[in-house]
Amino acid sequence: MCKENNNRAIFATKFGAIATTVGSAVGLGNIWRFPYEAGVHGGSAFMLCYIIFLFLLGVPVLCAEFCMGRASRSNVFGAYGKLSNEKGWKITGLIGILASLMILSFYSVVAGWTAEYCLTSLTEQLDFHDRMAGHNQFVNLTTGYQPIIWTVIFLICNFIILTRGVTKGIERASNIMMPILFVLLIAFCINSFTLSGCKEGLEFLFKPDFRKIEPSVLLGAMGQAFFSLSLGLGCMMTYASYFNQSTKLGNAAITIASLDLLVAIFSGIIIFPAVFSFGLSPEAGPTLVFEVLPFIFNQLPTGAVWATLFFLLLFIASLTSTVSMSEISITYFCEEKKMSRNKATILSSFIALVGGSLCALSFGPLRDFTICGLTVFNLFDYISSNIFLPIGGMICSIFVGWKMKKSLVKNEFTNYGQTKFHLFYLLIFVLRYVCPVAIFLIFLNSVGIL
Ligand code: TRP
Repeated sequence: MCKENNNRAIFATKFGAIATTVGSAVGLGNIWRFPYEAGVHGGSAFMLCYIIFLFLLGVPVLCAEFCMGRASRSNVFGAYGKLSNEKGWKITGLIGILASLMILSFYSVVAGWTAEYCLTSLTEQLDFHDRMAGHNQFVNLTTGYQPIIWTVIFLICNFIILTRGVTKGIERASNIMMPILFVLLIAFCINSFTLSGCKEGLEFLFKPDFRKIEPSVLLGAMGQAFFSLSLGLGCMMTYASYFNQSTKLGNAAITIASLDLLVAIFSGIIIFPAVFSFGLSPEAGPTLVFEVLPFIFNQLPTGAVWATLFFLLLFIASLTSTVSMSEISITYFCEEKKMSRNKATILSSFIALVGGSLCALSFGPLRDFTICGLTVFNLFDYISSNIFLPIGGMICSIFVGWKMKKSLVKNEFTNYGQTKFHLFYLLIFVLRYVCPVAIFLIFLNSVGIL
């Protein structure tokens, strides 16, 4: 990134912009959250809805966030403020900041698990020769107070990257690590085809079964589409505020969504054949991936090496995502509350630390502390992903569809006349009618009104 006149950073190259945005989108959401949500919600039914929502709702809202970010060159709160003179819109920015801190909290816990698994496999102590051993291993690692330590370690890494600046450490690391992760995922996918439960696993994920589409499946798939694309909170808006003027927003949105979907599909192909081969349940929830993956490593020669590498890469992928999540609140504290970047980073890391500790204990000492039947971890995940993200996305699409000056929107998509954007009117139509109505109907449906 280089500095612009008004002191805001800007991505030096188009590639840098896309790579960093993909880095934000691809993370635990694809590799940990997607399989667990798909497993809980009937596999193929979820998959179908997820793909539809990703392109029908996700891509247009991503375009809308990009447009707002680059047009305003501002944080999420400031973007609504700059692009309209009505104060009410800014509240969306506040929802985004609150939800981003909630997500950062539980996300850091899971990222902490990956660090713990990485270290344990490095010291060759991962023991997954049978189902109970796998489960007990997970319970040993995640109950008690020690997950807090791993959450703190993760947040410290996140903190260091944030204070050093995005380009130096993380951009370079992710430029090398993300392609390696991609190759490794492909290798594990190929391995999946050799497993005995391959057919069953793939059918679970890909054989459409329309009877399984229930309100909770629709809501879950919509939440996952937003989560996975880092949408709804202004994360992509903040990143787009660093885009240079020649980045083509429409193309960028399609590229990011496609890569993101590909990684989720890879992850599904890796997990579900293994679930059925090893006699596990696809409905295990947030613990699914951590209980299944080690089985896969176990039956590979030099499994410990694969495991270490995989969890290391997953850890890096999580960092590229949490850096983007943290940017939402940090840019807000800096630009609206006039804090120094260091102070802002300390404040948001501290909030995440408190939230993260509560989430970390949700699998152990605070297991029985539930609100509306959900542990703190599950509550943060559910509220932020299934409610705040779609609401944020809905407001953003209404804002760009109805409120922003059409000429400004058009200029952003055509780079001020330098390129063509044939789908402009379709995009506006979708943002005006399709996204808000669809999101609203899914909400009504999920509370049983429809
Ligand atoms: N998309 C990321 C993932 O799949 C998570 C993420 C990063 C996110 N930034 C976000 C989710 C902002 C919601 C909002 O892992």
